[in-house]
Order: sequence, then structure tokens, then C-alpha cells
Amino acid sequence: MVNKISDPKTLEPIETASIDELRSLQLTRLKWSIQHTFDNVAPYRAKCQEVGVIPSDIVSLESLAMFPFTVKDDLRQAYPFGMFAVPQREIVRLHASSGTTGKPTVVGYTKNDIDMWATVVARSIRASGGGPGDKVHIAYGYGLFTGGLGSHYGAEKLGATVIPMSGGQTPKQVQLILDFKPDIIMVTPSYMLNIADEFERQGVNPAESSLQVGIFGAEPWGEAMREQLEERCNLDAVDIYGLSEVIGPGVANECIETKDGPTIWEDHFYPEIVNPETGEPAGEGEIGELVFTSLTKEALPIIRYRTGDLTCLLPGTARTMRRMEKITGRSDDMLIIRGVNVFPTQIEERVLAVNGLAPHYQIRVSRDGNLDVLTVQVEKTETGADEGLAKQLREDIKGYVGVSALVDVCEPGGVPRSEGKAVRVIDERN
Ligand code: DLL
Repeated sequence: MVNKISDPKTLEPIETASIDELRSLQLTRLKWSIQHTFDNVAPYRAKCQEVGVIPSDIVSLESLAMFPFTVKDDLRQAYPFGMFAVPQREIVRLHASSGTTGKPTVVGYTKNDIDMWATVVARSIRASGGGPGDKVHIAYGYGLFTGGLGSHYGAEKLGATVIPMSGGQTPKQVQLILDFKPDIIMVTPSYMLNIADEFERQGVNPAESSLQVGIFGAEPWGEAMREQLEERCNLDAVDIYGLSEVIGPGVANECIETKDGPTIWEDHFYPEIVNPETGEPAGEGEIGELVFTSLTKEALPIIRYRTGDLTCLLPGTARTMRRMEKITGRSDDMLIIRGVNVFPTQIEERVLAVNGLAPHYQIRVSRDGNLDVLTVQVEKTETGADEGLAKQLREDIKGYVGVSALVDVCEPGGVPRSEGKAVRVIDERN
């Protein structure tokens, strides 16, 4: 289904430029970005000096691979502002991501950074079929999280009518969607499911709402989830990707006409894929860890940032710029259950394949002696007897994913609901 389509006449010139023009722009910007970081970010300069590289070593895009990586811990060590490259008075916004352990990672933006961010988010909404005059309901959380405000500034820059709802207050989300009749919703896919449930609780079929497009991201979601969301809510489900350290939402976005993985806005964020163990560049089309270098960011330029997200790079289709395969996991989300690598999205795919199970699930990992025990808690769609469901899911997980799991099928509403990023895994092993 394609409800809306992006008008080619409204694209920015760089979106349809030739590969040569794009690469040449990237090289010019990369030289600037490395020099800016080297001159102004002492911790990164020290890393460069340790391995003996200087900005003039950048003679091609490939020479970036000589430069040291930046990791989340570098930002934590420099908490809160030690990686900023501009004086405090030039910082107009701070955001922070909480993470699971330790101090938050703080990110800062200059006025130009905010403008660039709004540009890439506007571009993302346009790629999703949106345009001036569309009403955009934003249900990503506002606050230190980049989802709400990042989407907001982008939608406004595009000329859309913004409904800054933020996350939570689910009954009110439904009421506003019914009353204001937005065309587009920006929300995590797990919270969209929660909103769809609330529609039904209020006796309204979510497929009959005004929504034509959902711009879903901030957490992994697979193709099975796309199908489920599109069918249930009668909209086009498009993937938006991003992370605070690189800018926030809008690093990459799927084009609605192809829905074949997010197009990376490469004129601002240069991607690489490396082997997560060795850090060596991965081969063409090979899956590995996604690494980003910012090309235009002023306040927090970031060189070779290890995202932890696993994917591969693909050639451009709807745009000149390259795509990434839809992210199905992060290296730190990977569970090793009795020697088998398992990603939560693999479990999600199996849950969605069983008729009678709702797409709400949570994975618990515990230890029985020396053995890891995986328990999948999942809801059935209707109350009542369901003996076959647990068995079917157990067999499916064993057959497709290759691990033995305990399956706990509970009544509708039994799995905790998300109002933002869903908590998919509870690891009780430590
Ligand atoms: O989640 C930014 C964002 C907001 C993206 C709204 C999209 C929409 P962080 O909180 O820093 O920033 O989390 C970044 O979330 O490294 C991925 O692991 C995950 N993630 C983000 N988008 C996607 C996606 C925001 N489309 C981390 N698919 C990233 C899969 C995603 N994972």
C-alpha cells in the first residue's frame, strides 16, 4: 500500500546529485570536520596523536579508516561537555540519552546544528510522503530524548502542522487523532501498537483513522511488524533511524516508494561498516557494526562513532545516497543462549507468525545452574483457552531461531506496555 508519495520536484538538489558530486562534497566536508574536531576536541586529538594521524592525512574518503574510533565511553569520560568543540555561548540546546548503565551521554547543538537537524528530519518526513499542509502528530517523547523535539523542528521546517503530543496519556492520543485528524504519526512502533489497542478499547477501528503514514523508529522492528502495523492501522509504515550522539532522529529514513531500508543522509553523516570484533572495514554488503562520522556538525562533531547497531550498506534506489538494511539488532542486545546468538527481533518475527498471539512480548533471561533459560512472555489476542499457542510458539522458536524457550502465554494486557522505546529483554542473570 502506498497512501502518499514524495513529490520529486520538492527534493533537495543533493538528493538527486550524481555519486561523483556527492563523494566530492563528502570529501570536502570530511576534511573540515576532522580538522574542526582535531583543533577543538582535546580527547579526540589525544587519540589521534597516540596513533600518529593528523588532519592532512585525509586525502580520500577511504583514508578516514586510519583515524581512531569514538565510542560511547569517550562521551561518558568527558561528561558532561568535554567533547564539545565550541564555546558554551554557542550551544543553544542540550539533549541527553540515559543508556542502561552509568552517566548519560550529553549532546550539544549550535544554531546551525539545529538547523541542519531540522533539514534532515524535514527531508525524512518528505521521503515518507509528507509535505507542507500535512498534520503531523508527534508521539515521541519530548524532553532530553531527541525523538520529540527532533521530529518537531523537522516537521515545522517542512511546513507541516505540528501536533506536539509527546509520549504517554494513551487515551488522549486516540482522542486527538480522532479530533484533529492528522495525516502522519511519528512514534515508536511498539507505542503505535499500544495506541492501536486503545483505539479498539474505545470501540474505534484503528484502520479507520485519518492516519496515512507512520514514521516509526527509535527501536528495532522487523518486516513482520511492518505488515502488522500497516494492516491493522491502514497506513504506510516507514522506518526512521537515528541516534543522539550523531544528531537524533533523521540520520536515515526510508523512502515511501521503495520501503527497502533507510536511505542514509550521507551529505551530513558518513557511514562505514566495520567488523564489530576487529574494527576492520567490512566487505561490500557484509553485515557489521555501523559507524558514523559527522560531516557538518559544529558543537559535537563525531568521528567514526561506533553505534553498536548491526546492519550492512546497500546501494541507493530511490535516491543517490546509500541505504542501510533495516536494523534488526544491536551488538549489545544480542543474547547468547546456550551458545546460540539470539536477537529479540527474531523472537518478534516468530510471535507475529502465530495466529492468536498479540504482538506484545517480553523476553526474560535467567540462569538455572549453569544453563541460560529463555522465557518469552506473550499475550493472546482473546481471553480464553489457548493450549496450542504456547506449544506452537515454542516449536517455532526452536525450529527457526534454534533455541529452546519457555513460553508464557498471558491474557490480553498482561505484558507491560511501552509509551516509548519498548523494554524487550529483562536479563536476570546478574
Ligand atoms: O532513538 C533517536 C530517534 C528518535 C530515532 C526517534 C528515531 C526516531 P537514542 O535514544 O540515542 O536516539 O537511541 C539510538 O536507538 O543506536 C539504535 O540502536 C536504536 N534505533 C534508533 N532508530 C532505530 C530504527 C534515538 N529505526 C539507538 N531501527 C540506535 C532500529 C533504532 N533501531
